[in-house]
Amino acid sequence: MTAELRDPDLHARRAVRSLVASQIREVANVGIGDAAILPFWFGEPDQVTPAYIRDAAVASLDAGETFYTQNFGIPELREAIADYVSRWHRRVAAGNIAVTASGMSALMLSVEALIDPGDRVVCVTPLWPNLTEIPKILGADVVRVALSFGADGWNLDVARLLDALTPGTRAVLINSPNNPTGWTIDRAGQAAILEHCRKHGIWIIADDVYERLYYDAPAALACAPSFLDLGDPGDRIVSTNSFSKTWLMTGWRLGWIVAPGALLPDLGKLIEYNTSCSPTFVQRAAVVAINAGEPTIAQTLERYRAARDFLVAALNAIPGVSAAAPKGAMYIFFRVAGITDSLEFCKRLVREVSLGLAPGSAFGPEGEGFVRWCFAADTDRLADGVARLRRALGRS
Ligand SMILES: Cc1ncc(COP(=O)(O)O)c(C=O)c1O
Repeated sequence: MTAELRDPDLHARRAVRSLVASQIREVANVGIGDAAILPFWFGEPDQVTPAYIRDAAVASLDAGETFYTQNFGIPELREAIADYVSRWHRRVAAGNIAVTASGMSALMLSVEALIDPGDRVVCVTPLWPNLTEIPKILGADVVRVALSFGADGWNLDVARLLDALTPGTRAVLINSPNNPTGWTIDRAGQAAILEHCRKHGIWIIADDVYERLYYDAPAALACAPSFLDLGDPGDRIVSTNSFSKTWLMTGWRLGWIVAPGALLPDLGKLIEYNTSCSPTFVQRAAVVAINAGEPTIAQTLERYRAARDFLVAALNAIPGVSAAAPKGAMYIFFRVAGITDSLEFCKRLVREVSLGLAPGSAFGPEGEGFVRWCFAADTDRLADGVARLRRALGRS
């Protein structure tokens, strides 16, 4: 070990050192760059951003829009997001919207705005690890309340969650539709949580990035229930969202926050000290995405619905595998009988059959024994993946 690596003063602070590294990345590192790999490990659409959205960014660049812009986003985009949110949920104003440089950044900013070191933050799990690690960066104590898996899929025991939301709890973080399980909270659950949080002054941070990937409604009406449907403008509700999944724009890094107006001045300071603003040409593309993107969303949803139905049936046909059709998002989180170390299992899949899946343990201890498969893909690729899984399990 070099002197540099031994010197404790050259290390990051303790909260940062204790963050867990991504196990999805650990699996991907075994095979990334190998052309033989069939990857379903990351949560990413398999299609490029539509041309009409890309064209808007090119036009903005051609017009020379290469300068800093407003902390909260260009007015046209804030208006477009406010109209969009108002269409699907309750009426919000542009003054409630902060444009952020990704959904990830929206979450980080929300947590930075609300969470002090030592605060108790409750998360519904299994959960995309970024969501449980962000509060820890701020020094929060993260308490996990696990969903359960049964014949009808993933479910939340709302009473158990309310028990965990003790007086003094600062925030509850709910991602619905959920990554990795696809679990989607219903209205009754939301109403009970909101009532409880109102009573105890607990903030609800709702990660709504998958709200439009919701299969329990016709494509043209598809939007999962959001806390924004129930809350009043003065409620302690922050909703975070992203252009990544809904408009096939993962690499663009753009998202937004809907927050009570009183929080906006402080969010503005945080945006200034984080990214200062999001790129103008990306925001111009986002205005077009929001205003013209509904047909694309409907097509994507139909494609994903078919992929989901195909994959659930194909997985359940493998002896020892149990999969439930998720209500939302783009993942199947399925159990493989006899698997007690999903990280090792997924590494073996990469090495032996060149199949890239995400280990359940990456989403917390509740996820052990499960594997996540992103089904944003054509069915022939999914079928090839299932054949490889069968081979690895000796069930081909
Ligand atoms: C649950 C959840 N929230 C937020 C995000 C953030 O998306 P992005 O940072 O690409 O906008 C993701 C991305 O995978 C996600 O799965």
